[in-house]
Amino acid sequence: MGITVIGSLNYDLDTFTDRLPDAGETFRANRFETHAGGKGLNQAAAIGKLREPSSNYSVRMIGNVGDDAFGKQLKGVLKDYNVDTTYVGTCSDTSTGTATILIEEKVGGQNRILIVEGANGKTVYDSKQLNEIFPKDSHEEEYVVFQHEIPDPISIIKWIHENRPSFQVVYNPSPFKAMDTGDWVLIDILVVNEIEGLQILETIFDNHFVEQVKEQIKDDFIGEYRKVCEILHKTLIDQNKKGTVVMTLGSKGVLFCSHENPKVEFLPAVKDVPVVDTTGAGDTFLGALVTQLYQGEKLSTAINFSTLASSLTIQKKGAAESMPMYKDVKNVM
Ligand code: RIB
Repeated sequence: MGITVIGSLNYDLDTFTDRLPDAGETFRANRFETHAGGKGLNQAAAIGKLREPSSNYSVRMIGNVGDDAFGKQLKGVLKDYNVDTTYVGTCSDTSTGTATILIEEKVGGQNRILIVEGANGKTVYDSKQLNEIFPKDSHEEEYVVFQHEIPDPISIIKWIHENRPSFQVVYNPSPFKAMDTGDWVLIDILVVNEIEGLQILETIFDNHFVEQVKEQIKDDFIGEYRKVCEILHKTLIDQNKKGTVVMTLGSKGVLFCSHENPKVEFLPAVKDVPVVDTTGAGDTFLGALVTQLYQGEKLSTAINFSTLASSLTIQKKGAAESMPMYKDVKNVM
């Protein structure tokens, strides 16, 4: 097998503007564009585009679209990047998921995203279907990648844990949803941004502790997030004795640690990048990271490759389409 992404496919409706309107105000924006998106599709596309070209492992997308033009287009985009769409279902009773994205051009292409789940709400599988998606006789290593734009990734993760324990589970809790503290141990590779990192902390510690951390972040951003990363690793993810935590800090860089190297390391972001649109930067990072780890690279090498890949994505508009190919990243290494 290879790498499987179970998640969302969205049709992105992007409006580029100098600023956001106030409540009740009408404001003239600069441009409107449509792009392929959804965190699941973006991550699958990133894996398809960023895997080492001579490698022959498969990349699969598992999810749903509506029986409409958007859905057909999204499947087509995945096929263009050699992602297997056998298990992308077409639902006749609902439309393809959408994301309305406002991109503020004067503040570094930062975005605000509103999603309507549509067919992503149907991405729920019972044990019989999971047995078909992940046949028991497969002996190859499998990575399975999840985000949280589908109803219940955790129950699928639990099924994998019980039925295919050799698989590596990669989880990006975005949009964030609290889960039982004991369930974090089911994750092998946790990829969060700094906001999600604090949101997880809020579910395990009292308010006072988290408020204190937030105060200290103002004085020592990297140092304090380093501690957050360490707490997530030690108290949640590495309880399985093989857990890895990667925390992205936007334009600042990335923190990471693993069972083998529990001391949190920091890699700064690429400097002086002309930012056009940050949509899909996190998904590019995650897809790149997964390909590199699957191909057997060291965590630090994988993080370096992924940082470069996402620095290329933000220089172009859109999500999946703006992601670089493997050779583009190698060219800037
Ligand atoms: O991570 C970026 C993605 O988030 C967009 O493509 C949008 O569809 C939302 O899912």
